[in-house]
Amino acid sequence: MDKNHLIYLRTEGSAERGYLSFFELNRDLQFPIKRVYYIYDVPVGIKRGMHAHKKLQQLLWCPCGEIEIVVDDGKERVSYLLDSPKKALLVLNGYWREMYWKKEGSVLCVVASDYYDETDYIRDYNEFLKYVEEGYWDHEDQL
Ligand code: TYD
Repeated sequence: MDKNHLIYLRTEGSAERGYLSFFELNRDLQFPIKRVYYIYDVPVGIKRGMHAHKKLQQLLWCPCGEIEIVVDDGKERVSYLLDSPKKALLVLNGYWREMYWKKEGSVLCVVASDYYDETDYIRDYNEFLKYVEEGYWDHEDQL
């Protein structure tokens, strides 16, 4: 299972003036961004996600608040806590993801490698497991 999905964003600043975090194509992120979206006003305790993507890759970060992201490769589940604006999570294609809102006002920002396409989603966990078993993704290769 992936040990390197969490990225610590390059950050400039000071406690006096505040901070600025950033990422750049090729230097920090390996896919060109085709889409940006964000999820907000989610009540605490709500779970979102619950799907995998066949091809889409995404970088997720939480500029304010606290969101837990569980990433599942069909064999193992790994939990990541986005509790700092300096942390971002790269989620490759072929991973089931679940997102748990831990604090009121938490915002989840996402950049994605492609346009929105419902046919790229796998929304049924058993169907996801079938894709894994059939070797649709080589998770070992990706990590
Ligand atoms: P979805 O990806 O299922 O979000 P979550 O897993 O957090 O519930 O998207 C929710 C709805 O928004 C779904 O009907 C598809 C739509 N949507 C778009 O139209 N464009 C987008 O870029 C995204 C991410 C979702």
